[in-house]
Amino acid sequence: MNQSVTRFGILGTGRITRRLVADLQSTDGVSVGVIASRTKDRAKSHAQAYVIEHAIEGYEALLQRSDIDAVYISLPPSMHAEWSIAAAEHGKHVLCEKPLAMNLDESRSIDSACREHGVRWLDATGWLHHQRTDCFRKWLNEKKLGDIGHISASVSFYAPFQPGEHRLNASLGGGCLLDLGWYVGGLLTFAVNESESAVEADKITVRASAMMKGGVPYRLTAMATIGDGITATLSCGYDTATRKWFEIAGSESSLICDDFTRPWAERPTRCWIHDASGSVNPKTFEDAQERSMIKRLIGDENLVPYHRQALRTQALLDAMTVSISQNGEAVEAEHTK
Ligand SMILES: NC(=O)c1ccc[n+]([C@@H]2O[C@H](COP(=O)([O-])OP(=O)(O)OC[C@H]3O[C@@H](n4cnc5c(N)ncnc54)[C@H](OP(=O)(O)O)[C@@H]3O)[C@@H](O)[C@H]2O)c1
Repeated sequence: MNQSVTRFGILGTGRITRRLVADLQSTDGVSVGVIASRTKDRAKSHAQAYVIEHAIEGYEALLQRSDIDAVYISLPPSMHAEWSIAAAEHGKHVLCEKPLAMNLDESRSIDSACREHGVRWLDATGWLHHQRTDCFRKWLNEKKLGDIGHISASVSFYAPFQPGEHRLNASLGGGCLLDLGWYVGGLLTFAVNESESAVEADKITVRASAMMKGGVPYRLTAMATIGDGITATLSCGYDTATRKWFEIAGSESSLICDDFTRPWAERPTRCWIHDASGSVNPKTFEDAQERSMIKRLIGDENLVPYHRQALRTQALLDAMTVSISQNGEAVEAEHTK
């Protein structure tokens, strides 16, 4: 983007907007001038709380404004494709919350609309933009762990939910598969893409099962094989205490991180390389993953690797959905470029 300040508008008043709006407002070269809600009152109260000048009713009205260059979409997953595509058609750059969409077809439609209208897009998966993740990339590229054999990732939190929670509503894209599967599936996709030892990196076969509650996946377990040599186990759900960790096990050592989706509050951002003798090499980092993500969106960097990561993650989640519906049969994830 060429202009000195990118003016953001916010679609929705969800809980996550509190954090992301603050991140936008504290990023150099970004301003937040408008927030839109389904109701004028809610828009007004959030505008006041977040110190945003304009509060408007209706998402379409925000897209029509000429004083907005980009949007942050924090709506339930079933609305991500519709509003990302509409934003692109209005010439607005898109930062859309995770999961990018309900399925791969919708994700591809977002990507195509943004290309067609010459706007930039990112899914708001903050961990991919952390300085720590750059190190994960470097270590995987350099084969610091040796040959990768097994990957495991677990992400969960313990409900209770408020009444009307979109995560419990299948028609809004609720359930842990999309919500938290985005993280564990994304970690697998990331590790495979970045690892030179992934012989057939594009071929991921998955077997998944889910415990359902109220029509949505409440706890999910999946096993995957990648090419000939790598296996993975993935777990996510709403009925165990907060977990946000992974292990990438190589022939020489393992990379372990216990807070990859978002560093624990008030603790150093950390990870460990653990070798076969029990010696541990801890690393710590600065934390600013959301601001790094925003800077990347408004900058000139090629975003295609991030688009590829999002589309491959969505393809993996589609395969899990099919596998669940087929009682855990093995399903190959669609190949995406
Ligand atoms: N990146 C992260 O770390 C992170 C963390 C949490 C959540 N998220 C993602 O962010 C998105 C929003 O999550 P959230 O927890 O902030 O959601 P939320 O609190 O339920 O808010 C969603 C917002 O969407 C709007 N909305 C429009 N139609 C709706 C409908 N039919 N039902 C419910 N809400 C509707 C509402 O705003 P108005 O009615 O005011 O327009 C509502 O405030 C999800 O995709 C979630 O996965 C990401």
